[in-house]
Amino acid sequence: MIKTIENILNNGGIEEYQAEAKLLVLEVSGMTYEDILLGKKIENAEKIIELAKKRIETKAPIQHIIGYARFMGEKYIVNSNVLIPRDETEILVNKAYELIKKQENKLDILDIGVGSGCISCALAKKLKEKEIEILGVDISVDALEVAIENVAKLDLVRKVILRKSDIYLKIRECEKFDLIVSNPPYIPILQKENLQKEVKDFDPKLALFASDDDGVEFYERIIKDAPNCLKPNGFIAFELGVNQAQLVKKMLEKDFKNIEITKDLAGIERVITAQLI
Ligand SMILES: C[S@@+](CC[C@H](N)C(=O)[O-])C[C@H]1O[C@@H](n2cnc3c(N)ncnc32)[C@H](O)[C@@H]1O
Repeated sequence: MIKTIENILNNGGIEEYQAEAKLLVLEVSGMTYEDILLGKKIENAEKIIELAKKRIETKAPIQHIIGYARFMGEKYIVNSNVLIPRDETEILVNKAYELIKKQENKLDILDIGVGSGCISCALAKKLKEKEIEILGVDISVDALEVAIENVAKLDLVRKVILRKSDIYLKIRECEKFDLIVSNPPYIPILQKENLQKEVKDFDPKLALFASDDDGVEFYERIIKDAPNCLKPNGFIAFELGVNQAQLVKKMLEKDFKNIEITKDLAGIERVITAQLI
């Protein structure tokens, strides 16, 4: 069955046809890979073929076709209003967790550009023993609707609160955070044409692009007012795009110490963390 789906996808011009065929068969049949290798009868075979054909016709990402993406062991509803959670973002979640895991008092976290809710929910899950409140903000109401569904589905409504806000615009003066975390839009708009079709045509523009040549405008805006929103010794943690680490480090140096950069598996400087001076 996997071979049949591989052939359909390959003939339809899907580059990663093997990985996608495996994902489609496993997710839609609900079977394990072992079951399939043992030759057990595949459940929902017609549905799998129908979805493979839809993938070819629409060229929509496979996660849009099945309706969800996996991130840190959980399923997140996704559609064209939110960025599909990326593997790199797991590095950001793990680094953010390391910064605050030892804190004894109630934890207040601000997630700027919450999108599907994957960072907020993953942190809430990892810190499940703690008293914690995560405020996820996004400028897009359509994205927030998806985040609301994911927060409810993962049973985190008492821990993750969502609000429409242009960065800090709707953050009240009395709200102070132990950690500001963000995976902001960081692709320079000039690079739009170089992107894969699945990204360019199906991820929301609001989630991808920064208007400046280096793609760092959001870091600049977030860092500038971060000292007003953080508690004493509070932390900041960002995901970064290619070649942005040194630019963002410079921005942080004025008000932050203990600046640390972490590379991803491809050797790209992917995450930067720092602590308020
Ligand atoms: C790269 S996506 C990250 C989504 C999610 N946090 C993740 O890691 O998968 C950036 C998010 O920032 C939001 N965004 C863009 N401009 C914003 C702004 N001015 N204020 C708040 N959120 C913004 C987008 O709508 C999008 O959901």
